[in-house]
Amino acid sequence: MTKVLIAFYSRTGVTEQLASAIAEGARAEGAEVRLRRAREFVPAEVMAKAQGWKEQADAMNARYEAPTEADAEWADAIVFGGPTRFGAISAELKAYIDSLGGLWFQGKLNGKVGSAFGSSSTPHGGNESTLISLYNPMAHLGLIIVPLGYADPAMFKAGTPYGASSVSMNQAAPPSADDLEVARFQGRRIATVARALSAAHVTATKA
Ligand SMILES: Cc1cc2nc3c(=O)[nH]c(=O)nc-3n(C[C@H](O)[C@H](O)[C@H](O)COP(=O)(O)O)c2cc1C
Repeated sequence: MTKVLIAFYSRTGVTEQLASAIAEGARAEGAEVRLRRAREFVPAEVMAKAQGWKEQADAMNARYEAPTEADAEWADAIVFGGPTRFGAISAELKAYIDSLGGLWFQGKLNGKVGSAFGSSSTPHGGNESTLISLYNPMAHLGLIIVPLGYADPAMFKAGTPYGASSVSMNQAAPPSADDLEVARFQGRRIATVARALSAAHVTATKA
C-alpha cells in the first residue's frame, strides 16, 4: 500500500481542511495516510496574545499527532502544507522540515514524492510564493517534486499549478468546493505517482 504523510501546520483550521481533502484523495487511490500537525514552539504568553490560538491548537492537537522523523522515513510521499507567513512558510512547519536533517544526511528521503499546499488571507497575499518556497527544502531533501499543473479539470477553477490553495479572507472564508476538489486531485495525483515510483524502485539510497 502506498504510504502518504501529510505534514501541515494550521493555526485557525483553513489549511487543516485542505489537508483533510488531500487525505481523502490519496485514500481514494488506495493509499494509507498519516495526517500530522506541526506544533507551536512559541511561549504560552505569545500564544495568549492572539484570541483563540491556544484553544484551536489544543483542539487540532487532540485530532493529530505531531509529525516525526519516523513518519517521514515511513512515507512514500510527503505533502507539506501551511498558512502563508509574510509570503513564505510558517516557522512551525519549517521547524519540522529542519528536524529532518538526520534523514537527509543518511539519504533516506531520496526518491520519495514531495508536494505542497497552503492558504493565504488575500488573493495576492503570497500563496504561490509560499508553495514555491516549500520547493526549496524539498529539492534539498531529495524529494521528487510533484506539482499539479493543469492536469485535471479542477485546476481551471481553483488552486495553483504548484499545489492546492485557498484564500481565507482573514479566516472568514473556508476553502471552497473548488479548492477542495483541487486538494482531492492533489491527493490522488501524489498517491498515483508515489505508487509508480515505488514500483520502479526509485528508492532512498545512502550517499
Ligand atoms: C504572522 C502572520 C503572517 C501572515 N502573513 C500573511 C501574508 O503574507 N499574506 C496573506 O495573505 N496572509 C497572511 N497571513 C494570514 C494567514 O496566512 C491566513 O489567514 C491563512 O488562511 C490561515 O490559515 P490557517 O487557518 O491554516 O492557519 C498571516 C498570518 C499571520 C498570523
